[in-house]
This record gives sequence, structure tokens and C-alpha cells, in this order.
Amino acid sequence: MSTFVYMETPHLLIRQYTLNDVSELFEIMSNPKVHQYTKDKNHPWDRLQTERYIRFFIDKNFTTLDCFHGAVIEKASGKLIGLTGLNPYKEREPEIEWKLGVSYWNKGYATEIGKEVISKTFETTDIIGIYGIASPENAASRSVLQKIGMTYLGVHEFRGQEDAFYYIGKK
Ligand SMILES: CC(C)(COP(=O)(O)OP(=O)(O)OC[C@H]1O[C@@H](n2cnc3c(N)ncnc32)[C@H](O)[C@@H]1OP(=O)(O)O)[C@@H](O)C(=O)NCCC(=O)NCCS
Repeated sequence: MSTFVYMETPHLLIRQYTLNDVSELFEIMSNPKVHQYTKDKNHPWDRLQTERYIRFFIDKNFTTLDCFHGAVIEKASGKLIGLTGLNPYKEREPEIEWKLGVSYWNKGYATEIGKEVISKTFETTDIIGIYGIASPENAASRSVLQKIGMTYLGVHEFRGQEDAFYYIGKK
């Protein structure tokens, strides 16, 4: 049986997880550099945590983009290079999330993902806006949020710390 694909970009596929993804995702999420600017308290991830995360989304079996979470696959290599998804934030206004393996940074991949998530989510769901929330020091993440067309809303407190907020609404 083939795995459900959420979207495809020139270089990437974003698909549902399978249990075969545990080792590759663990390799990425066990690197402390990936968590340097994130709020994830249990980091770097251990193998059990990675497996629990994957099982959670396999059980959810989301087939629409409203609150999808999936594996990012580099088409050329077939490798799992990270995760992305939409986290519930406000009613019909989720927050975009992405974490890529360090060796895949600065290839334009997050920008490619973000643009496709925005266009496909607005096209296929009733979501009216998407937030981008980044640590003010997370220059790479903030650069991507600008590049995908989000508007900077300033720095606000969120879950006990200051974060830079970005937003794009459905046109
Ligand atoms: C944030 C992240 C997803 C970006 O992914 P990416 O595929 O490298 O992003 P892109 O290649 O599309 O764009 C990165 C941009 O940031 C810029 N950048 C990278 N590091 C930078 C730095 N230290 N200072 C300033 N700009 C920086 C790059 O130059 C590039 O911009 P450009 O195309 O204008 O040159 C990736 O770095 C990552 O996974 N980080 C760890 C997890 C994380 O912080 N996620 C975000 C919060 S959930």
C-alpha cells in the first residue's frame, strides 16, 4: 500500500509517516543543533520519543492539510530529511512548523515547503491564515518566514518566552 502524500514540490515530497521512518527521523532529531532555538523541552530526541511521535501521527491518519504533520523526503536521494506540519494555534489559523536535518539547511528547502503549504492549505481547506512563530534569534527561520510572504507582526510573549510573530492571510 502506498503512503499518503500531502504535497510535492520541485525537490521534495511531504508524506505521512511509516514505522520505517523511525531511524532516519531519530538521526535528525537527536542532533542538538536542530533544537537550538525551539521550545521543545525534551531535546535532543531519543529513539523512543521519535517512535512515539511517528506512531501518534500514524494513528491520527490526517488526510487533509488542516493539521497535517508529515515526513519531508528529498526526491533526488529518497532520504527523509526532516519534518513539517501545521500546529493548532487559533481557530482556523494554525502555526507552521519545520525541522530539517543540519546537512540539508540553506538549500532553499524550507522556503519551498512553506510556499507549498500556504498555497495548498488555502486552496484545499477552510483555514483563513497561517502564523509563523520563531525565536527572535532564529535568523534562518525568520528569513524563511519573510521569503514565503508572511508579514512581521512584532515580538510577543508566547508560552513563557518572547517570540517573533509572522502571519499570512488567505487572499
Ligand atoms: C529554520 C530551517 C527550517 C530553515 O530551513 P532551510 O531549508 O535551511 O531554509 P532555506 O534554505 O529555505 O532558507 C534559509 C535562509 O536563512 C538564511 N540564513 C541561514 N542562517 C542564517 C543566519 N545565521 N543568519 C541570517 N540568515 C541565515 C539563509 O541565507 C537563507 O536565506 P537566503 O535564501 O535569503 O540566503 C532550518 O534551519 C531548521 O530546520 N532549523 C532547525 C529547526 C528550527 O529552528 N525550526 C524553526 C522553528 S520550528
